[in-house]
Amino acid sequence: MKTSDGKLFVIGGASRSGKTAWTKKQVWKLKRVIVWDVEDQWSKIKGFQRITSNAELVRLCSAVNGPLKIAFVAGGDLSKAFDLWAGCVFYWGRYCGPCVAVAEELADVSTPAKAPGNWGMLIRRGLKRGITIYAISQRWAEADKTALGNASRFVIFRVVGKDNKYMAERSGVPVDTITGLKPLHFVLVDAESGAISKVQKLKF
Ligand SMILES: Nc1ncnc2c1ncn2[C@@H]1O[C@H](COP(=O)(O)OP(=O)(O)OP(=O)(O)O)[C@@H](O)[C@H]1O
Ligand SMILES: [Mg+2]
Repeated sequence: MKTSDGKLFVIGGASRSGKTAWTKKQVWKLKRVIVWDVEDQWSKIKGFQRITSNAELVRLCSAVNGPLKIAFVAGGDLSKAFDLWAGCVFYWGRYCGPCVAVAEELADVSTPAKAPGNWGMLIRRGLKRGITIYAISQRWAEADKTALGNASRFVIFRVVGKDNKYMAERSGVPVDTITGLKPLHFVLVDAESGAISKVQKLKF
């Protein structure tokens, strides 16, 4: 069956390297966006609704089939809240219309094992339902392998420590290229063809 597939962007890089800024540039014009906003950053962007209640998240994602930008700022048990968020994204994208999801700092809520619960389902089954996902982490060696394995694109900023070898192996970008990146510089990898871009600088 022909489907309008979403893409999974895996975005890696050290703190302040440019991951959130790059992702904001990709999605700012879009109309249906839902963010796992653990740092309470996206909630401050014009056009986003700051949602902190689980019930409100469920209500919006069950019903709104028009434009909506949600920044979900969870409290309490982050793993449980992330599972709920991912389930809501899947439902919203599948039943209410295509959407874009941004998951900030996955190392906080997933482990190097298989992606947990609804997040695993979203990665494995969301793309063919037209959901595009931006998966972000400073430390992919500590985040889930399912996202890395399903990536359509890698966006790699400066990576420090042992993570640079890990990202090099996973993305195909030479480790020297990754360690040589300056802040706000990145390479883009098309995981389907293996094509690697030149080093680019993020422009604001
Ligand atoms: N609109 C902007 N204009 C100029 N500089 C910006 C803008 N947005 C972000 N920056 C700067 O870009 C750098 C990267 O910020 P960004 O928030 O994208 O980092 P990050 O990789 O997401 O870091 P972290 O992992 O800590 O969340 C920071 O120094 C930030 O101050
Ligand atoms: Mg960030």
